[in-house]
This record gives sequence, structure tokens and C-alpha cells, in this order.
Amino acid sequence: MLKDDLIKLKDAALADLKNIKDLKGLEDFGVKYFGRKDGELTRILRGLKDLAIEERKVVGELANTIKRDIETALEEFRGRLAAEKAPAIDLTISGIEPQTGHLHPITQFMRKVTDIFVSMGFDVVDGPEVETEKYNFDLLNIPADHPARDMWDTFYVKSQALPLTKGELEGVDHPQPLLSKEGSNRLLLRTHTSPVQIRAMESRKPPVRLIVPGRVFRHEATDAGHETNFYQCEGLVIDENVSMANLIATLDIFLKKIFGEKTEMRVRPSYFPFVEPGIEVDMSCLICNGVGCSSCKKSGWVEVLGAGMVHPVVLKNMGVDPEKYTGFAFGLGIDRFAALYYGINDIRLSYSGDLRFIRQF
Ligand code: PHE
Repeated sequence: MLKDDLIKLKDAALADLKNIKDLKGLEDFGVKYFGRKDGELTRILRGLKDLAIEERKVVGELANTIKRDIETALEEFRGRLAAEKAPAIDLTISGIEPQTGHLHPITQFMRKVTDIFVSMGFDVVDGPEVETEKYNFDLLNIPADHPARDMWDTFYVKSQALPLTKGELEGVDHPQPLLSKEGSNRLLLRTHTSPVQIRAMESRKPPVRLIVPGRVFRHEATDAGHETNFYQCEGLVIDENVSMANLIATLDIFLKKIFGEKTEMRVRPSYFPFVEPGIEVDMSCLICNGVGCSSCKKSGWVEVLGAGMVHPVVLKNMGVDPEKYTGFAFGLGIDRFAALYYGINDIRLSYSGDLRFIRQF
């Protein structure tokens, strides 16, 4: 009799277990079967004492087995319920690699350039991107009415003209009268890093060797080789007996260090108001190996920098005696260099913000 009850109870308990949905259900289950007063199993076990000794042995053993079975099933079930509740954390799964960015190819390249010049004993100097006409043009020997200003057309910042002093207008404070339009000194986005030559010399005396890496701006019809916004690296060396030969040798060493010993360079006479004589330096196009492509205007050569001997007027504007000192200056077009270095066929890609491009470097 009791034996049958026990087996039925086991089946009922296991079936009940399957229907439990939450902790409350689990508690109720415990009370129903194991409760001290009215638990169904408790009651049966309590009834054992009324059985004959032989039967008590057999039924008692069965009852204990069933009790253990239910308890085991209950434990298992508790575990499963807890696992369902807890967030699944598998510590053996390899993590999601955090995405790290990297420096823009132009910045990476700029650092290479800077490192080479630093190894040659140059200092690195910085200057403002929003410049005045005085520094961007006048003190670099480019007066307001000079056609050379057309080469460096730029964006002017409207309402912020800084008036020139009477002394500046009449050339009292400066060896050169400053001729900017209507005696004003308008703010503009600098068109080259050359104004920093003047700024740097306000707090230095020769001998100097410095470079100025930085961003510049131009009013420009863009194409594969031109952008309205690009980077330059200015160079300035002033000392006694500095010559054109020193300039060419410096540039040659630089080009060979960055592009390899086989790099070819060609020098053409050119005009920049702040140098005399002035040169333009071309490098063999590394994209088409000199055959001619859209990056080199089909010529096989890419114009990569302007340079020359610092004009005596500019030396004076720097407070340097042109009778005693000479100097050379150069301006590297970083974007074109970087394009040659990495084999990029359109410098505009650098500013496209396209990650498919950026991630290649
Ligand atoms: N500043 C000139 C430019 O932007 C480059 C240059 C620098 C030329 C120094 C001569 C000397 O075109």
C-alpha cells in the first residue's frame, strides 16, 4: 500500500518539478513534499512506524531512495533555474578586440620628415594657422600690390583687421614699409609656413637651423595634386657662409634618406619674393617611375618643394645683418611627398575621411 503511494508520489513530484517556473514555485514544491508538518513525503515517512518490522525495512529503504531521487532532481533543477537567471558568462570565449585607431598617414609621414631633420640638427618650431598679412606677405617681401600675391590667394577672416602702426606703415619699426591694403593688417589663413621664419627669428639670433611643419591653406581648383588645405614643412638655416651648395646638399641628403639612395632630384630656377636666387625642386615620380601619370601632370617629375637663398630684405626684416650672414630656406609640400612615399595617386584622398583609405596605413 505505502509502497504504491511512494511510487506514485515520486512520479507526481518529478512531474511537478517540470512545471516549476520560478523561485516561488520551487519554494512551494519544497513545502508540498518536504514540509515538516504536511509535506507529502514527510507524512509517508511518519507512517513507517506503524508498519511491521519486515515491511518497515523494505518500505523505509524505498522511501529513502525516492527521497534522494527527488532531492537530486530538485538540486539539478535549482541549478538550472539559477543558471537561467544569471547572465551567461563564458570566460573561455576570447574577447572582442577593442578597435584602436592610428595616426593619419600625413601625420606619420610628417614625423618621418621631422625625425630626419632633427637628426641633422634642426629645431622644430610651430606657428599660427590664422596669420596676419604682415607675416604671411609683407615681411616676406610680398607687398600688397605685388602680382606674386596671386600665387597665394587665400581665405581672409572678415571683421578682424589689425591696424598697422604708423611706424610699420612708414618703415620706422621695420626696414620695409608694410604696404598691406589701406594700411590694414587683415587676418587670413596662412598660405605657407614661411611666415614662421620671421616669427621664429623674433626670438633667435644666427646661427639657426629650424623646421616648421604645419598646415596651410590656398584658394585652389582641386585636382589629384592640389588641395585647398595641405601640409608643408618649412626649413630655415642662417649662418655665416651658408651657400646654395649647402641648400642643395641638404635637400639631396633629405630626399635620399626618405626615398632611398636612388632618388633623383632636379633643380629649376624659380621665383619666390622672399628668396634670391630661388629654385624649385622636382623629384622623379615614384608612382609611374617617371613615365608620366595624372599625379605628375604626365611629366615624370613631381614638384615637391620651393627653396632658395633668403632675400637680404627678409634677413633685414628678421633683424639679421645681410652683410654678415646668409641663409637658405625651403618649403616642402608634405602631401605630395606622402603621396609619392605611399603610392597614393590622389592627394585629396587624405582629407576624404574614408576609413577604407585611412586603414591601409
Ligand atoms: N613658401 C613657398 C610656397 O609655399 C615655398 C618656399 C619656402 C619657397 C621657402 C622658398 C623658400 O610655395
